[in-house]
Amino acid sequence: MSTHTDAHTSMPAQTPDHFLTVDDLTPDQLRSVLDRAGEYKAAVEAGEPHGDLEGKTLAMLFEKPSTRTRVSFETGMTQLGGHAVFLGPDDTQLGRGEPLKDTARALSGYVDAIMARVFDHEDLVELATYAEVPVVNGLTDAAHPCQTLADLLTIEELFGGFDGVSAAWVGDGNNVASSFAVGCAMVGVDLTVATPESYGVDDDVLATAAEVGTAPTTTTDPAAAVADADVVATDVWVSMGEEDERAEKVAAFDGFTVDEDLLGDTDAKVLHCLPANRGEEVDDETLEGERSAVWQQAENRMHVQKALLSELVE
Ligand code: CP
Ligand code: NVA
Repeated sequence: MSTHTDAHTSMPAQTPDHFLTVDDLTPDQLRSVLDRAGEYKAAVEAGEPHGDLEGKTLAMLFEKPSTRTRVSFETGMTQLGGHAVFLGPDDTQLGRGEPLKDTARALSGYVDAIMARVFDHEDLVELATYAEVPVVNGLTDAAHPCQTLADLLTIEELFGGFDGVSAAWVGDGNNVASSFAVGCAMVGVDLTVATPESYGVDDDVLATAAEVGTAPTTTTDPAAAVADADVVATDVWVSMGEEDERAEKVAAFDGFTVDEDLLGDTDAKVLHCLPANRGEEVDDETLEGERSAVWQQAENRMHVQKALLSELVE
């Protein structure tokens, strides 16, 4: 992990542990984060103090909007006895063109970790390259690993573990799907990904999943994907930054709505990272119904991120 000795001069002398993609955690670290998240959740429910990051500060850089990520990280830091600083797109000199690599080194002199939500994943990599403190991915166009941690904790809570659990992803092969695929592979959840032909998960993500476990089965048939699934996950068809593709994507995803027609008699639980577009990737009945675990999933963002920060921050 880093010392702050070279903060203003050059590249870090020692590389801190970052969390840019799910597989940045070793399987042991992932296990430890999920276990600690459960402990933190119990502590919150019991009203027990757990100030493991007392005096620590998290910078939160946002290029895009957020509800869950911002509030769960900020509240999580408060519960851990620390502090979080919100830096929106108009709040820093980044908006006036200061390079990320300069921002990374300056922030490293003040804070103990940086969480960033940016468009281009390469920007996050640059931030991490120059930061002397851990950098956490709060969503890029390529990945949303904190979401996956919450998804995995939710699956574990719902099914008492991962053994024998089958999951289906129905919808866009996007950032959330990509991280979910790698996460499922790491814990041994059997995953089938159903997307329209041109919107599959990238080949490099499938290759990573194969390296860390078993690559998901891919299909263009959502009904086949959900037939034996214990859990069905989805996300919006039009991600932030893709607004110009809306008409084309909505047409391409016809038939991929997670609704009662698709789920039929299965008793699968439904996950959605939120925010949801009711009537597109999921219908209101499903989101509000017995199958839905989305509020539990949303709450779990905070518990897993607290555990992650405790793992990464010295
Ligand atoms: N799921 C998720 O990241 O939500 P926000 O965009 O509200 O942070
Ligand atoms: N895929 C969505 C997730 C939002 C949390 C997006 O990138 O906009």
